Amino acid sequence: MPLFAAVLSNNWVLTNKTGQNLGATMFHNIPEAILTRMAALETIDQRDRQDGTPHMQRLRQIPAETGKFLALLAAMAPHGRLIEIGTSAGYSTMWLSLALRPITTFEVLPGKVEVATTTFAQTGLAGQVTLVAGDARAHLPHLTDIALCFVDAEKDVYADCYEAVVPNLVHGGLFVADNAISHAEALRPFLDHAQEDGRVDALVVPIGKGILLCRKRLTIND
Ligand SMILES: C[S@@+](CC[C@H](N)C(=O)[O-])C[C@H]1O[C@@H](n2cnc3c(N)ncnc32)[C@H](O)[C@@H]1O
Repeated sequence: MPLFAAVLSNNWVLTNKTGQNLGATMFHNIPEAILTRMAALETIDQRDRQDGTPHMQRLRQIPAETGKFLALLAAMAPHGRLIEIGTSAGYSTMWLSLALRPITTFEVLPGKVEVATTTFAQTGLAGQVTLVAGDARAHLPHLTDIALCFVDAEKDVYADCYEAVVPNLVHGGLFVADNAISHAEALRPFLDHAQEDGRVDALVVPIGKGILLCRKRLTIND
């Protein structure tokens, strides 16, 4: 059965070709075009890791289990924007897209922007995903009402992103950062700061390369 994503009552929903609402997709009926593109990018990512492709050219994608965790978080996040810092080829964005909510994703390298543009065109996600070319840090101060922010970028930008995003998270909003275990040493001051920060409740979750998960407190007395 052909499936389509559409905007209904401010939410993205899956419809058939007559517009009938088929409900959220999540993991049970991922569109074929997304599965095909995910598989192709997984193959490239695996090859990159073995053939000496330079670090900055590699896709450096999250594992699929992290993708599933992100999709669930995106579906559970409160009302507000979903943003991603570090698009690469759009693999993690495709997982986030399963929550059927609009997403803004930032990518600084022009070559990766080109590949991600192809990903979103091929998968029918160009209407749901806004891809912004450039350093996310230049845009973050203007983004309010953030429900979920996923950071998967160079490790030296995590702290800047955190400080720009946390004040603009809605209450109950989520700040999620990858590589909290794989790059624990490089990220240590940032990880310690987040876990001691009274504005959020935070925990490192041992999924994939380790996810730092922070939830903005409803009030300072929660
Ligand atoms: C680990 S890869 C992201 C992988 C992607 N999240 C996935 O799983 O499919 C990191 C990406 O972040 C991008 N990046 C690094 N610093 C950035 C910044 N300040 N703003 C936007 N993108 C950035 C890099 O160019 C790179 O493509």
